[in-house]
Amino acid sequence: MSLPKVNPTKTDTWKALEKHFREMEMLQMQDVFLKDSDRADDFKIEWQDFYLDYSKNRITDETLLLLLKLAEEINLKEAIVQQFSGERINETEDRAVLHTALRDFNNMKPEVWETLQKMRHFSEEITNGSNKGFTGKAITDVVNIGIGGSHLGPEMVTEALQFYRNHLRTHFIANIDGDDVAEKLKSLNPETTLFIIVSKSFTTQETIANASVVKKWFLKNASEADIEKHFIAVSANVEGAKEFGISEENIFPMKDWVGGRFSLWSSVGLSICCSIGFNNFEELLKGAFEMDKHFKNEDFNQNIPVVLALLSVWYNNFFNAESEAVVAYSQYLHKLVPYLQQAVMESNGKSVDRNGNKIDYQTGTIVWGNVGSNSQHAYFQLLHQGTKLIPTDFIGFSEPLHGNSYNHNILMANFFAQTEALWEGTHAEKVENPFKFFEGNKPTNSILIKKLTPRNLGSLIAIYEHKLFVQGIIWNIFSYDQWGVELGKTVAKGTLTAIEKNNPSLVKNPSTRKLLAQFLKKSQ
Ligand code: F6P
Repeated sequence: MSLPKVNPTKTDTWKALEKHFREMEMLQMQDVFLKDSDRADDFKIEWQDFYLDYSKNRITDETLLLLLKLAEEINLKEAIVQQFSGERINETEDRAVLHTALRDFNNMKPEVWETLQKMRHFSEEITNGSNKGFTGKAITDVVNIGIGGSHLGPEMVTEALQFYRNHLRTHFIANIDGDDVAEKLKSLNPETTLFIIVSKSFTTQETIANASVVKKWFLKNASEADIEKHFIAVSANVEGAKEFGISEENIFPMKDWVGGRFSLWSSVGLSICCSIGFNNFEELLKGAFEMDKHFKNEDFNQNIPVVLALLSVWYNNFFNAESEAVVAYSQYLHKLVPYLQQAVMESNGKSVDRNGNKIDYQTGTIVWGNVGSNSQHAYFQLLHQGTKLIPTDFIGFSEPLHGNSYNHNILMANFFAQTEALWEGTHAEKVENPFKFFEGNKPTNSILIKKLTPRNLGSLIAIYEHKLFVQGIIWNIFSYDQWGVELGKTVAKGTLTAIEKNNPSLVKNPSTRKLLAQFLKKSQ
């Protein structure tokens, strides 16, 4: 069965929301906490180690009711069931979307279990030094070679869970930028480095080119026969990996029902596994699994991903907010935003609906941000006093990991203060100086989590995965394909030919042609 294909703007609830929005758009809402002493209780969700406060949003009970009704009217429940039951909801690629099956500990597919055991075994041998390099030395460094979903998730998680890391150093080669590859190789010893080439397709230009450069570098000091001790592949294209020279037992399989940007839970997470150990990796999966159950079973009004998605739709489609920021008050989460940017924007940056029609309403939000408190000293000026409405998610933890409560209290005081200042502004004060006036009324969600553990990180990531799914369902788009990245790849092939043949006239566009001529002049 295919996903529901309802144009959201044609529903009765959308029309009711438009009417409601006209009543809401000019409202300064700071007083609502005075008028309704229960507001902070009414607009919150407590779940396991998570506390979501969404009371500082430009919503009333009626807004929430209407948004929840919209979710009903577009058949969100049915879509969730379809996704989890493995229907081929990625219609344009004719694939199921089952990253949730990678962490379904109640009903694990035998092939998922098998791969997990292979990951456990391999990562343990690398970590305890029994799986050695070609000169008999233990592995000290693990390099993940991959891009997009084959990079961002593993890097984000290994950075986020640095506290739980073992002695292995983890590196990421993603960019085709040869300078970066050279810089990364500078500190590495071929005798003690393990390279994991991660590519679902095993055809991605950057990854294959970088892996070839690295292989050449390795072979300066070692022989072809040594490759099997140092090169591992993670791919759905086993033949491609074998052609590259990876032996079959060194290939960790991937399934076509796992999308790249949702693949960190699969064998794509091998570098995570090596870095934090299998048990912690399993905890990460379990945290995501807990969130999957919450998402699947909880009523929508108590359902974290659903509520966050609906709020985002409210701002995106009614207030015309084009972007939303994510600010995590933890340096460990400094790679969260780049990870979310791929997850959210590659999924929901679409302008054709599920019926194949051009869309005339807004879809995918622009996601941006960085960590707090650094961000406060960079772009928060614009959040507070700029002309744009930027709903912001604040993510923070009750407990620090190293026990430094002095710093942590300051960090979190800033978190709480910023959400308050954004909401309240200088509303209650008489401010004569216009430059010191803060309008307030700026919406935020506060996601307060007990502690940054592998389990909680798994749940947090799953929240955002499910949030983007809900939004895609509402917007009537296919969130799980990414045709939009293909055109540039094709054009680049022609451009590379023009560069290699030193012939700018091979490219079509006059501006590009001139640029190429200039580039080729410089590189001669
Ligand atoms: O070009 C985009 C993309 O296809 C992403 O969706 C994917 O995560 C990335 O490239 C890498 O793809 P692969 O894992 O096949 O190398």
